[in-house]
This record gives sequence, C-alpha cells and structure tokens, in this order.
Amino acid sequence: ASIGKGNFRHFMEKELHENPAIIGDTLNRMIDPATRLPVLPDLAVDLAAIPRISLSACGSAYYAGLTARYWLEEIARIPMDADVASEFRYREPPLDPAGLGLVISQSGETADTMAALRYMKRQGCKVMSVVNVPESTMARESDLMLETIAGPEISVASTKAFTAQLAVLAGFTLALARARDARSDAEIAPLVAALMELPGKMAQLLADDTEIRALAEDIRDARDVLFFGRGSMMPIALEGALKLKELSYIHAEGYPAGEMKHGPIALIDPSVPVIAVLPSGPLFEKTASNLQEAAARGGRIILFSDKAGAARLAGIANRTIIITECDPFVAPILYAIPVQLLAYHVAVLKGTDVDQPRNLAKSVTVE
Ligand code: G6P
Repeated sequence: ASIGKGNFRHFMEKELHENPAIIGDTLNRMIDPATRLPVLPDLAVDLAAIPRISLSACGSAYYAGLTARYWLEEIARIPMDADVASEFRYREPPLDPAGLGLVISQSGETADTMAALRYMKRQGCKVMSVVNVPESTMARESDLMLETIAGPEISVASTKAFTAQLAVLAGFTLALARARDARSDAEIAPLVAALMELPGKMAQLLADDTEIRALAEDIRDARDVLFFGRGSMMPIALEGALKLKELSYIHAEGYPAGEMKHGPIALIDPSVPVIAVLPSGPLFEKTASNLQEAAARGGRIILFSDKAGAARLAGIANRTIIITECDPFVAPILYAIPVQLLAYHVAVLKGTDVDQPRNLAKSVTVE
C-alpha cells in the first residue's frame, strides 16, 4: 500500500505526530500489563551473565545508543562502550566473547553498522539488534532482535524511529536491571510508570507548537547554533544539532555542556543562539551555571525545560520552550520531539527540502 502524508505538509511532520501511538505500541510490547514490569521476548542470552555491552551504530541511531549508555550504566549497572560504526569496524577493539554486541538501525541495512555487527560476531559475541525492519539483513544476522514498531519511515531525517529506539532501549534497560538484580521491582515500578506516561505527554506537546514556531523565526537567520546538554540529555543536544544542520543547512554543533569552556565558548556572541536541553534533575545546576557563563558573554540563551527550570533561569533565557514535567529517566525521549520539531520548522521557514535534504540518503548502504 502506498503511504500518504494525510493532512500533513511533509512526511517528517506526519511522522513526528505518529509518536504517541508508536511509543504506546512499543511500550505495550515490553511492559507486562499484569505486573507492570518489563518483559523481553525469549532472548537466547542469559542477561544476568553479560559482563559488558559494546554498541555500534550511525547517525541518530548512534545517538539513541549513546543515550542508552547512560541508562544501562546507571540503572542496570552494566559497563558499556559506544562508537560510531565507521570507526568501530576498523578500530579492532578486542571484545569479550561473553559480552553483548548491540547494533541499532532504523533500516537494518546501513553498511558500516552491518560491518560492525559482523565484526562483533567474529569476536565471538552474541549480537542484539534494535531495528525497525524485521526482515532486514541486520535482523537476520543478529542473534536477538528487539523491534521498534515505528512503521515505515519516509522522511530521510529519522524522527519516530529514533524515539522508538529510545523507548525500546529504556525498556531493555529496566529488564536488564531486574535480571541483574541491580534494581528492585519497587525501584523499577516508578520508572515504568514514567515511560507509560510518555504517549500522553507527547500528544500534549505536539498539540501546540506555537512557541517552537516562534523560536524557529528567531533562529532562522543564524549562522551558527550551539546545543548543550548533560548526562542522558547530552545525546539529545547532539540530535538537535544534527537535525538542524541536516534540514536547514545552518551550522549547528551539539556539545556536552561541561565542555563548553573547552572550545565552543569562543564562538559565543549575541548572534549565536545557545540552546540548552535542560529538564529539572540532579545535574540541572551544573548546566545552569554553564548557561550563566554563556549569557555573560552575550549569548542568546534558549531553554528547553520544565516550569521549575524555566523559573530558575528566567533572568538569562531569551526564550523558553516549556516541556511538561517528567521523570529525568524519560526526559531524553520526550525532549527529542521538540528539538526535532524546531529543525522541522526552521527548514519550512527557509524553504528547504524537508523530507529529502540535499546530499543525504535515507539508508547508507555503501561505505
Ligand atoms: C542516514 C539517515 C539517518 C539515520 C542514519 C542511520 O544518515 O539519514 O536518519 O540515522 O542513516 O541509519 P539507520 O537506518 O542505520 O538507522
């Protein structure tokens, strides 16, 4: 069947709006309705016995994996390394054969990620894939597969597949935390509840994008845009910058907030929007002080935060996009949507080809 845009102008917009349904479906497959605890399909691997995880992926899928690294290390207490597949495949990292290889891919066909998967297998590891196409080469060649149920993604820039990858990896983290006795069921329960609230919060966010459109007007003529985040929000800063540069051709860089003073601070002046993805949480004050420093150098501070965060930084933020409160665990999944929407609206204003940005391909099947 051919896929249409429905009432939307672009596939990207349509696919962003599919988020609540997709995340709901993806989570419903992973959470047992009776116990409200995470369940995984019968995996041919003893999760409790894995000593470490090695992740490899490309593009946004890699950022989903980087986010998961924070979750898997902190919540499931499992060491994890992560590298883009084009580096991983030639780095010849020695892998513990008892360890789990992890590849993440919307298409399941990206050449470098495929090569990483095969390298992991040659090193004797079992490989788990998180893919959106269950018939794909990666799905077939991996030992276990967790499917994102995002449906076909037409927009070259990944949106719903990215959030679905995050949802699957969040569920996997909680299942692993239980299997390894890293967290008690009482500790897991509120994290499950936070995940299950996501579809409703996403729908709320998508229902009114007036503020994000206004922000898009503000930054459409910028030459450079900086995105900062810390902890599990750091990869969302990377994703925001990636999407903005891909869709609007504005130079954008995502950075760990703490690295600001090691480079990007040199770029800051009143013409440079400084965007922070900064929900309330344990690391809030650290990034808040980075932003104060950026503001003191004339940076135009743009904040994505909740009401409490917005109030705390009202004195320095030039514009704030208020996001519904959520548990810090799920914040990367929720905040992915407004940063992707921002890139979308800037591209629409600039009149670029939103669904088919120049020079980019949906699936990179050659090296
Ligand atoms: C291309 C796409 C991106 C995607 C990346 C990885 O660059 O434009 O949206 O994140 O490939 O693709 P995969 O299919 O492996 O997720």
